Amino acid sequence: MEEFIRASVAHFETLLREQLKRQETMEKGAAKRDYRQAEHITIGIIGGDGIGPIIVSEARRVLERLLKEEIASGRVELRDIEGLTLENRLARGKAVPEEVLAAIKGCDVLLKGPTTTPKGGTLESANVTLRRELDLYANVRPVTVPEEGIDWIFFRENTEGEYALGSRGIELPGKLSMDFKVTTDAGTRRIARAAFEYARQNGKDNVAIVTKANIMKKTDGAFSRIAHEVAADYPEIHCDDWYIDIMTANLVNPAVRSQYQVFLLPNLYGDIITDEAAQIQGGVGTAGSANMGDSYAMFEAIHGSAPRKIEAGEGDYANPASILKASELLLRHIAMADKADRLAEALRICMEEEKRVVVTGHRDGATCREFADYLLEKL
Ligand code: IPM
Ligand code: MG
Repeated sequence: MEEFIRASVAHFETLLREQLKRQETMEKGAAKRDYRQAEHITIGIIGGDGIGPIIVSEARRVLERLLKEEIASGRVELRDIEGLTLENRLARGKAVPEEVLAAIKGCDVLLKGPTTTPKGGTLESANVTLRRELDLYANVRPVTVPEEGIDWIFFRENTEGEYALGSRGIELPGKLSMDFKVTTDAGTRRIARAAFEYARQNGKDNVAIVTKANIMKKTDGAFSRIAHEVAADYPEIHCDDWYIDIMTANLVNPAVRSQYQVFLLPNLYGDIITDEAAQIQGGVGTAGSANMGDSYAMFEAIHGSAPRKIEAGEGDYANPASILKASELLLRHIAMADKADRLAEALRICMEEEKRVVVTGHRDGATCREFADYLLEKL
């Protein structure tokens, strides 16, 4: 027992020193990449696991069409990145093997299919590793239900909270387990800035700060306090504190939910509530996710790799809508708003107006390929 305590204290010291170093780097800040000026943009394409390669290959076809001229002129390159598969990651004992990470860092932005994370064990989620390695601090997830007036956008902090050290907790088998949650001022400031800046630039006048600061007094307390400090620079935007439990209830309450616009949340609450929000929109298969930092950005579906769908032989029936929404976010990020709008409009026609080819995720619906063919007609 004494030995366990000593080892745990030493482990905690290591974590603390690392986190303090990380916060020092963040405090210095970094310049944001401006794609309007970019002469060359490399889009890395990663299939991932399970249904990932199926949905990503359809998104790739759509990007090829939309970026036809830019690809032909050499301004844009679509580059396939191999090796981010569960088999390779397990064989190498690495969430993201070095050469894969190097290939990823050679790109500007990524379109990534879902990757499988084994439960338990020590292999970290590839997503969590990439978000940390590429410092993708803003996880931005739009959700809309036009007929209900719902137009939400979630700004989820993406590098801290329970995720930062989620694979590095301590455990005394049979007796106790402990994980750590980290919130830094600089980490909170940059995601809060992103949310309020978005609100200002997009004519939104309301930001909901969602925490559980009544219970997680240090970490969520700091998150809320820093968010309000940032809010002071945006006096035209109203902001309120909400607790995550009541906010999850409010999102399923049709009488109040359409009043929310922009949400600002720590990592884990943002993870959970965005699945709820996506379900309200029509299912997790319908929502896209942007992971953005100052240098890199990665775009993906918000759902997982659905291994059960593959086992059931229904992989080809996976819904590509989420990765197509992610592709739209990617195009917007690289300053190609006109192409993003074209994709958004084609998706709207296919999914809301005509609904001629409907993907249900099962054999009773259309295949992923059939939906992509239909969408390509509308581009
Ligand atoms: C998400 C996913 C990830 C997360 C998983 C795949 C690690 O659920 O992007 O929301 O927990 O953040
Ligand atoms: Mg999630």
